[in-house]
Amino acid sequence: MRILIIGASGPIGRAVAEELSTDHQILKAGRSHGDFRVDIRDCDSVSQLFKEVGMLDAIVCAAGHVHFDPLDRMNFDKLQVGLQDKLMGQVNLVLAGQASLNNGGSFTLTSGSLSEIPIRDGTSASMVDGALESFVRAAAIELPRGLRINAISPTILQESMEAYGHYFYGYEAVPAKRVALAYARSIEAEHRLDTCIRSGSKPIYQQTFLMRDQGIPSSTKNKDCNSCAHSDAASISSSIRGTTGKPTATP
Ligand SMILES: NC(=O)c1ccc[n+]([C@@H]2O[C@H](COP(=O)([O-])OP(=O)(O)OC[C@H]3O[C@@H](n4cnc5c(N)ncnc54)[C@H](OP(=O)(O)O)[C@@H]3O)[C@@H](O)[C@H]2O)c1
Repeated sequence: MRILIIGASGPIGRAVAEELSTDHQILKAGRSHGDFRVDIRDCDSVSQLFKEVGMLDAIVCAAGHVHFDPLDRMNFDKLQVGLQDKLMGQVNLVLAGQASLNNGGSFTLTSGSLSEIPIRDGTSASMVDGALESFVRAAAIELPRGLRINAISPTILQESMEAYGHYFYGYEAVPAKRVALAYARSIEAEHRLDTCIRSGSKPIYQQTFLMRDQGIPSSTKNKDCNSCAHSDAASISSSIRGTTGKPTATP
């Protein structure tokens, strides 16, 4: 398969590229690294990327920042970071990228566990991750030609603990290599399911992913599972420590 990875220089993108590079042709894109340059916030830049790369079998996005800050310091401009980069950036890729996918091709986007498990200072991230997952569920039933779309929702990575671990007190971090398996599954779709398995019922996912029930009835044209792989390192809110805000952060 010919697979485009946007954000290939980050810990998730690197691990996904490594996981897939043995069997597939990997094209890497980023704002300042990779074979192709793109700013996913800019629709013209995204259109240009797809002109340059040609036809693809899979498009992966592991890029997009959000801003972390306490709610009483959040404002319109800070919210725009996540809305324009992580949310609309990935939506832009889907809108412009459909025509560049071969029949049966796939999008694999990245949300984050905060859509379901909030942390202090993470209102923007929770909002963006939740909106992205809702977009993915809705887009899945409209995509033509057997195209598929999934969102992967990792918890904090081991590789990112130094930078962002203070936001995720009490969470079990996971290695990027393990998160990359969810992307591989989404792309290779060997597990095409009509009904997904809800969290924790499969030991293999217990400390890493939560497969949410997003099964689409087999009678619909996109009957492949539209999965969000979620962190299962659930914390209860009373155990989460508050942190002070930091500039733009990642998860
Ligand atoms: N790290 C974690 O623990 C974690 C956990 C859950 C979810 N996530 C989510 O996973 C995604 C990837 O995170 P990550 O930590 O692996 O990588 P990252 O360091 O946040 O970003 C990876 C790369 O994305 C590219 N990028 C950023 N904004 C871009 C834009 N507007 N247009 C094009 N490329 C852009 C940059 O590439 P260049 O260097 O080429 O500019 C950057 O190096 C993010 O959306 C993050 O929220 C991360």
